[in-house]
Amino acid sequence: MRRATIIDGKAVAASVIDVVKTAAAALEQQDGVTIGLAVIIVGDDPASHTYVTSKSRMAKECGFKSVQHTLPTHTSQGDLATLVNTLNADSTVHGILVQLPLPTHLDSEAIIQAIQPEKDVDGLSVVNAGKLATGDLKTGHVSCTPAGAMVFVRRIHGEDLSGLTAVVIGRSNLFGKPMTQLLLNANATVMTAHSRTKNLPDICRQADILVAAVGRAEMVKASWVKEGATVIDVGINRVAAPESGVGKTRLVGDVAFSEVAEVAGIITPVPGGVGPMTIAMLMANTVIAAYRSVG
Ligand code: GUN
Repeated sequence: MRRATIIDGKAVAASVIDVVKTAAAALEQQDGVTIGLAVIIVGDDPASHTYVTSKSRMAKECGFKSVQHTLPTHTSQGDLATLVNTLNADSTVHGILVQLPLPTHLDSEAIIQAIQPEKDVDGLSVVNAGKLATGDLKTGHVSCTPAGAMVFVRRIHGEDLSGLTAVVIGRSNLFGKPMTQLLLNANATVMTAHSRTKNLPDICRQADILVAAVGRAEMVKASWVKEGATVIDVGINRVAAPESGVGKTRLVGDVAFSEVAEVAGIITPVPGGVGPMTIAMLMANTVIAAYRSVG
């Protein structure tokens, strides 16, 4: 029997988007500033195109001027860097996002570092990562997916996580590391687990807050989860769904949802959990960047 409360990520994201729309309209009215978001995509990875289309559409819905730069796979490092520099210098652009992954011949790290930190609404530059690591959340930007996951954590547990143990599975720059820092800044006791971690189930069972971001379909089982824990599933994995017909697929997270929902206190679903929050937090970061730019 399911005992966990399921978080409605779409509803929480919609409430963030409402605030963004109001703030964007106010900036337009008070300062005559239209918020600008530039999204760069290189190549033709279908999943990346789907994400970018959603980001551009939502930016328009929020009243932003959204410009999408779609570049061919064979784009050179120099051409991409030139585009980033042009957008850095453009005062009508407040946020720049380079969709990852980039084609392998490109140096992603160099491109990300070329984005002016104030416009790095993905929070991936060393300046923004460093600000998060040192607890400066006032002048930096935090990577959108962990920022979104943290909105859930705050709504469930409040601002102060003193005394709570959190386990983050995954150590990527895009999610695991910033998520660990956010939880630490909120006074949680945090462990970051990864592919070299031993006794992962034992470590997960200690978590009051368990965050899974490994990219392995339904890896986290009920036996890994402490009774009543908050489980946040960041995975998006496409798996075969023969029950729906030949060749059909469905999305699942990194958590075996049905069985974990029998043990956890609160759980996020996939889809409809953390996913919608990523886009909402991108919009929020872009509004913040625009407000900072007018001082
Ligand atoms: N690819 C997958 N997630 C993300 C994200 O949050 N930002 C960027 N830039 N690329 C991604």
